[in-house]
Amino acid sequence: MNLNTQPAGLRVYAGHFDRDAQSELLAAIRAVLAAAPLFTPRMPKSGRPLSVRMSNCGPLGWISDEHGYRYEPRHPASGRLWPPIPEQLIALWRNVTRYAEPPEACLINFYGPTAKMGLHQDRDEADFAAPVVSISLGDDCLFRVGGRNRRDPTTSIRLTSGDVLVLGGDARLAFHGVDRIYPGTSRLLADGGRINLTLRRVTPQRANRTSAQAEARAPHHA
Ligand code: SIN
Ligand code: MN
Repeated sequence: MNLNTQPAGLRVYAGHFDRDAQSELLAAIRAVLAAAPLFTPRMPKSGRPLSVRMSNCGPLGWISDEHGYRYEPRHPASGRLWPPIPEQLIALWRNVTRYAEPPEACLINFYGPTAKMGLHQDRDEADFAAPVVSISLGDDCLFRVGGRNRRDPTTSIRLTSGDVLVLGGDARLAFHGVDRIYPGTSRLLADGGRINLTLRRVTPQRANRTSAQAEARAPHHA
């Protein structure tokens, strides 16, 4: 890995979750997926399916279809609210970001053996002050990260089950993607594959306070 081509603000915590912690996290994610099953996202306009399958937990979930990329409070197929973000992910967020507010969205990406994700920026959020925190479970992948411009030089990092990656500061808007999965490199998922969890803030700070106050007044629904 060439450290000189890595943007400032990119941090990798290799092996942050040990095997037991990975199993516990996986059990929590399986419970989320039982309530909010994986769906196949589609490209804006063309409607072409992506190769990953997705779900979410948290007050907001990221979805993509013919109408574009956006955050929605409900699962696109069931119409139900996303389940809450598991406690160990909230704790991770607190530890690695020191950001005052908890994450609002946790995107769950499932990669089969041939799935990949093209270079993109995470820029559907209204506020880029908070970092993006990403967790890898299952098979290894080749993760690519560059700069703020699509043509900036990139560097590749092999991510392993239990690794945590943070895109903050100058790297918050870095282009990134997954070039490939290495099938059979982990036994965490019985049927193989890779799960990536991405924690994000979505709304700006001022709106957060307003919606938190509104939520305190409104009755909670599950
Ligand atoms: C993403 O950028 O949404 C996923 C990144 C990853 O799978 O590591
Ligand atoms: Mn991304």
